[in-house]
Amino acid sequence: MEKITNYYIERLLEINKAAGAERPKACVVTYGCQMNARDSEKFAGMLSQMGYEIVKDEHMADLVIFNTCCVRENAENKLYGNLGNLKERKRSNPHFKIVLAGCMMQQDIVLDKIKAAHNHVDIIFGTHNIYRFPELLHSHFETGGMIIDIWEEAKDIVEDLPSQREYPFKAGVNIMYGCDNFCTYCIVPHVRGRERSRKPEDILAEIREMAADGVTEVMLLGQNVNSYDGGITFAQLLRKVHEINGIRRIRFTSSHPKDVTDDVIYALRDLPKVCKQLHLPFQAGSSRILELMNRKHTKEWYLDLVAKIKENVPNIALTTDIMVGFPGETEDDFEDTLDIVRKARFLGAFTFIYSRRHGTPADQMPDQVADVVVKARFNRLVAECNKIQLELNMEKVDGVLEILLESVGKNGMLNGRTDDGSLVHVAGDVALIGQYAKARIIEAKTFYLMGELI
Ligand code: SAH
Ligand code: SF4
Ligand code: F3S
Repeated sequence: MEKITNYYIERLLEINKAAGAERPKACVVTYGCQMNARDSEKFAGMLSQMGYEIVKDEHMADLVIFNTCCVRENAENKLYGNLGNLKERKRSNPHFKIVLAGCMMQQDIVLDKIKAAHNHVDIIFGTHNIYRFPELLHSHFETGGMIIDIWEEAKDIVEDLPSQREYPFKAGVNIMYGCDNFCTYCIVPHVRGRERSRKPEDILAEIREMAADGVTEVMLLGQNVNSYDGGITFAQLLRKVHEINGIRRIRFTSSHPKDVTDDVIYALRDLPKVCKQLHLPFQAGSSRILELMNRKHTKEWYLDLVAKIKENVPNIALTTDIMVGFPGETEDDFEDTLDIVRKARFLGAFTFIYSRRHGTPADQMPDQVADVVVKARFNRLVAECNKIQLELNMEKVDGVLEILLESVGKNGMLNGRTDDGSLVHVAGDVALIGQYAKARIIEAKTFYLMGELI
């Protein structure tokens, strides 16, 4: 860890101890993807070392940090809604602190809006300098003013930040940061910077430490996890992680189709700990739209890749991201999207309505599709995806699957996950959480399975 981070963590611990007998409370609110979720664990880790008690309810907290996302407009609107709601609270309690971090803050138009309409925010920083958070908080305590620190580009990767993980038995591990693909609709490369891979030895050391701490499942994370290049390839990294004692399941997300090499397919096929699940976003079916999106592959190429993966790894579960309403999308183009859905048969799909993002090439493209047309297509897409998902789930009924018991659901049942990522509800004792167990599947629904422990 940077010395500077440690130094300010200790100063803040002193300040917080001097302030009163009761530990101040902090809440980390996360929007967006697993990259943000992992960063939030680091915020929680740093805050905890600074003397804060981490709470789930933002109304209880003396400090709230919003880790923001800007991939679609509705992600941004959630933050503005929250900031509006907190205005009164800040007015009545000046000691209450609001911190904004994450992808959204990397955009100038957002900063301008916050400065103009939400000047009750205390600290703002972005995605490239999260390790400076303790220093920024310290400056704020010293000066009392709004502190803004946004870096245009990342510097070195800072290792060993403290983190407070959400689950004791499973963990996300960043292996690379950023994205170089510049899909024309996407803001991520603009706010997360260029691709940077961590050194294999740093990744392996982190996972070994996690394993020693009771973690049995790791999720390797990156915007394009399989374009990892840390001196060894992604497939080689998978083989090295596979050797770590104590780790039973290895997952990774998100994979770009163009980087699914034969070696990655063989790793999925040959390494028993690598879960038989591959998230493979295709976004759109039409090759013409794919070209406008700068996705670097055609419809036929994607379907060939899917066929090759299924041939080599017959029990693989594919999941995907799909977008409707990209500028210029016609009914014929949309039919190509449905065609891929029917042919690839995904066990899960995140479906999105295209959202215009300021500063991206697609925002300037002609023929933005009318809302009513997009919504109708979206509903048809969701219905098709759900139908296939239910069919695939029905095939599992009467089978016995190993699940990792992860949490208690709202209905009091335990939530377990299979190797292929399916959610299984079973009745069982909470003491089983974190353990592996066998479950017989008794019923299939669209988004989950019902099972009983055997
Ligand atoms: N790097 C990952 C995806 C990151 S963003 C990948 O390419 O696989 C997650 C998903 O959000 C994308 O796959 C895409 O489907 C969706 N998305 C990105 N930009 C979007 C936009 N402008 N409007 C709607 N959905 C978008
Ligand atoms: Fe966005 Fe494309 Fe990069 Fe994914 S690969 S983060 S969709 S630019
Ligand atoms: Fe959102 Fe940033 Fe992830 S924009 S999807 S939180 S990389």
